[in-house]
Amino acid sequence: MNSRFALIGPGRVGAAIARTLFEKGFQPVAIIGRNAHTAHEACSFIGCDVDLATTDLHAAAPAKLILIAVPDDQIAAVARQLHLKQIAQSDSVLLHFSGVHPAAIMRQPQGQTFLFSLHPLLPFADRKQAYERLSRVSYFGEGDVAAYSAAATLCNALGGQLQFISSQMKHLYHAAACLASNYLVTLIAEAGSLLEECGIDPARGDTCLLPLLEATLHNVATCGTKKGLTGPIVRGDIGTLTAHLQALETSTTGLLDLYCLLGNRTVQLAEGSGRISTSMAEKIRDLLNERIFTSNTT
Ligand SMILES: NC(=O)c1ccc[n+]([C@@H]2O[C@H](COP(=O)([O-])OP(=O)(O)OC[C@H]3O[C@@H](n4cnc5c(N)ncnc54)[C@H](OP(=O)(O)O)[C@@H]3O)[C@@H](O)[C@H]2O)c1
Repeated sequence: MNSRFALIGPGRVGAAIARTLFEKGFQPVAIIGRNAHTAHEACSFIGCDVDLATTDLHAAAPAKLILIAVPDDQIAAVARQLHLKQIAQSDSVLLHFSGVHPAAIMRQPQGQTFLFSLHPLLPFADRKQAYERLSRVSYFGEGDVAAYSAAATLCNALGGQLQFISSQMKHLYHAAACLASNYLVTLIAEAGSLLEECGIDPARGDTCLLPLLEATLHNVATCGTKKGLTGPIVRGDIGTLTAHLQALETSTTGLLDLYCLLGNRTVQLAEGSGRISTSMAEKIRDLLNERIFTSNTT
């Protein structure tokens, strides 16, 4: 594959990926941003010549591989411009990184380019930390068969392996990523607010939860979700669950419904793995559902 690439969208994902590619011998022809300062600053992070920074899409023309790392809502518009202005050559590969949109979102009526979507399953909150993790990430992709080899080479350079995701499944796939990553952050914030209600300094709340979280993730990584589950539901400790529910009823956080909702799913997990009996599962479900019902009718 021709190793000359252009990056459009020098944000967190674009800069982290471009830096790795540059280090692996890929040649950037342009780092294109909406404003010159961001593009310039991204070049410094990537380590390439700062003269490659530009706001002009035409600078992507010499590249056979054009990486579109702009926000999801901008991808189709950027691809349209690349085709309308005849910047993308007939056999260029256009590749975006969205987990929710298919490659076909870049398709244009007269376009002859090859299209691919490649989603690194990683939260890019900080580009430097993300860059350091890229080789441990799963990359899920789909698109034109003719673009597959370019995408696989790219993944290989990033240190990961390309795995296929059906374009029809991308919405569900991205909902899974959102549940596991974004909502986990929300859950930690909510647990922190309960600790705060217990009088624990909120600044300490997050740090004292961290060892708990790290050990939980380690358990899941080593034993899987079925064996990695601990706590009152999998022990069948009805007394402990009752105490939680009573405390949550009077808590100012309003977390009772969420606790019961997740509790029901936890019962399903514990029962499905054979760690609690069906009769115990039913007892716990009754306890949780009675609380949801009561809290919604009062
Ligand atoms: N963040 C994640 O955790 C994550 C994970 C996997 C995949 N992704 C995907 O990666 C893509 C990029 O996300 P991101 O988090 O890197 O976004 P980001 O940090 O907001 O970066 C987007 C970059 O694109 C630039 N931009 C916006 N419109 C542009 C245009 N029309 N032309 C040129 N540059 C433009 C922005 O410029 P300004 O700085 O001027 O706004 C910014 O530099 C998205 O498709 C996203 O779904 C994100």
